Amino acid sequence: MSYETLLTDVRGDGTRRTLLITLNRPKALNALNDQLMDELGAALKAADADAGIGAIVITGSEKAFAAGADIGVLAQHDFVKAYTTDLITRNWETIRTIRKPVIAAVAGFALGGGCELAMMCDIVIAADTAKFGQPEIKLGIIPGAGGTQRLPRAVGKAKAMDLALTGRMMGAEEAERAGLVSRVVPADKLLEEALDAATLICNLGVASVLAVKESVNRSFEGTLADGIMFERRLFHALFGTPDQIEGMDAFLNKRKAEFK
Ligand code: HXC
Repeated sequence: MSYETLLTDVRGDGTRRTLLITLNRPKALNALNDQLMDELGAALKAADADAGIGAIVITGSEKAFAAGADIGVLAQHDFVKAYTTDLITRNWETIRTIRKPVIAAVAGFALGGGCELAMMCDIVIAADTAKFGQPEIKLGIIPGAGGTQRLPRAVGKAKAMDLALTGRMMGAEEAERAGLVSRVVPADKLLEEALDAATLICNLGVASVLAVKESVNRSFEGTLADGIMFERRLFHALFGTPDQIEGMDAFLNKRKAEFK
């Protein structure tokens, strides 16, 4: 399928490959509008349904992952229009329904909705040029796609308040120290690093990959006791699967596992 605001490409040569999605509104620093979010949702859903895809990487340009929701569009709303058209909610939730791992490869600005989009991904890998922030306060609004909820869970209350109340940007090193980002790499290695991580995931057992994602996400909902019980049940459920038998047999026989 072809899109107007995204570039898509399938990478890798294994049984399961990686869908690379590049946000592509370069003149507006990949500002996120309805068309882009609709197309992103469609591309993610198609990849989730495709047994030949094992992981997804979302990236932007060298200058911007995404500089936020499109302010020109936001400015056309009053409360009644925002509320009745379900501004943001309508097409921002699709990524939450995706079961396969999604990696954000972030270079340049990831601001407002761009930072929120990165935080909706499962792994965030940052170029040393990346800058994260929730500058909505400077526009007289607040984050609207989970920023006030996911940011404190990722970096703690103090830094989340600092960022969301002042609107300042945080560089890649600070983001890694704070726990928003899993690794920082030189900008020219960003895509390679993200695609390598995706390939590793593609070559693992599908059921255990989906179970890890589901179980870690569960840790953000409900109590610790419920989360641990959920994890235990998934852990038990994976015994007897071909991947468990193959993985353990390969280890015990000192050979590389070949997951089907
Ligand atoms: C619409 C945007 C945009 C945005 C940049 N552009 N960000 N257009 N919406 N969010 C456009 C500019 O208008 C400009 O278009 C072009 O992209 C290049 O931007 P410049 O400002 O000229 O670049 P630069 O001087 O390098 O500054 C980069 C920047 C700045 C620091 C990222 O553009 C900026 O502050 N952008 C807004 C960031 C922001 O406030 N994001 C939060 C949005 S609210 P022209 O046509 O002039 O060349 C939000 C709410 C989320 O995200 C709610 C839930 C999703």
